[in-house]
Amino acid sequence: MTNRQKDLLLEEVRKYHQERSQEKEFIPGVTPVLSSGAVLDEDDRVALVDAALDMRIAAGVHSRRFESAFARTLGMRKAHLTNSGSSANLLALSALTSPQLGDMRLKPGDEVVTVAAGFPTTVNPILQNQLVPVFVDVDLGTYNASLAQIEEAVGPRTRAIMIAHSLGNPFPVAEVAELAKERDLFLVEDNCDAVGSLYQGKPCGSFGDVSTVSFYPAHHLTMGEGGCVLTNNLPLARIIESFRDWGRDCWCEPGEDNRCLKRFEYQLGTLPKGYDHKYTFSHVGYNLKSTDLQAALGLSQLRKLPEFSEARRRNWRYLRTALDGVPGLLLPEPTPGSDPSWFGFVITVDPEAPFTKSGLVDFLESRKIGTRQLFGGNLTRHPAYQDREFRVVGDLRNSDIITDHTFWVGVYPGLTSEMLDYVADSIREFALKHS
Ligand SMILES: Cc1ncc(COP(=O)(O)O)c(C=O)c1O
Repeated sequence: MTNRQKDLLLEEVRKYHQERSQEKEFIPGVTPVLSSGAVLDEDDRVALVDAALDMRIAAGVHSRRFESAFARTLGMRKAHLTNSGSSANLLALSALTSPQLGDMRLKPGDEVVTVAAGFPTTVNPILQNQLVPVFVDVDLGTYNASLAQIEEAVGPRTRAIMIAHSLGNPFPVAEVAELAKERDLFLVEDNCDAVGSLYQGKPCGSFGDVSTVSFYPAHHLTMGEGGCVLTNNLPLARIIESFRDWGRDCWCEPGEDNRCLKRFEYQLGTLPKGYDHKYTFSHVGYNLKSTDLQAALGLSQLRKLPEFSEARRRNWRYLRTALDGVPGLLLPEPTPGSDPSWFGFVITVDPEAPFTKSGLVDFLESRKIGTRQLFGGNLTRHPAYQDREFRVVGDLRNSDIITDHTFWVGVYPGLTSEMLDYVADSIREFALKHS
């Protein structure tokens, strides 16, 4: 295909997008008000088709370009794309078990401090690596654990902390990173819900030894599916790449041979000298890679991160102001020192209120307003964790309150002020009617 043919095709793609995406009128009660969703414009569609026309189907040039641009955005030295945020979490924690880390490596039975109220795949890699989760509670309002709670949970076998910024609201990550440094613990920062959030003026995802991101459509940037692991530690970055790419020792790009110029000269393990480095495995790894089509979409999305973040902040403030003073509701608060790029607008119905969360959620859903739970609520109460070894420090009272009384509505950039008014009016109407 000539460049001219391609330009013509992409021009047609642009027209197709414009024709398909005429603004539709918002009809309250008929048009769904989603809690989250991908915001995709004509540049995104063109980026995807452009990459498809090139038929670069495995990870390649777009992936490398995205990794360096995204690392720069978060002020990190290395980023490695994965096929999901859950894979990024699995990869980040698994990398810390590498024998190449010597005495620092996480070993079976070591403890990892985390929170009980959150998303399962922040916790699952702990169990999948034969490590022991130590659960702490979170505060209502910020939905994050405090430094004191995390510090109290650190015991003699504790070797790492792995916590997510709750719905985009940073946990006190600078102080937790300081604690981790003092106690020789790894900090894994699950930044899946907080790309664009700041803590003490610095991007979330830049504090941990390792941090992770999700690019699922509900998140701040999307690739359809996708994720990323970031670090400033170059030896650790090599380990991350190895675990992601089948556990191999070699670091050639796909389709590339002999980048190290010693492909047939190594002697590793008990292999014969000169055994092909491309097929030498230094870790019990996975294949968690993503594709270039995903990265092409990611690059196009990344350009819009500032406007997406601003829209999330603006939409959150809109709801926060509109719902101030509504009886029976505990409204969200940013963690002191933070400037969140919110994932959602989280509300706890006061357990003493004359109405219930389920009543309010049913009412909103009947009005086509999408609601979501604070993920698993208290994860320790789920069937998946019943027979697993874990430790709980303090009680999980607030996590239980979250399970019973908390939900969230959307603030994603696809929402208009008409939609937000409808959401706020509906919540206010229900609360006032039942108070
Ligand atoms: C905090 C957190 N961590 C990890 C994930 C997993 O991301 P993914 O859906 O891309 O696997 C999510 C998903 O929403 C999440 O909210």
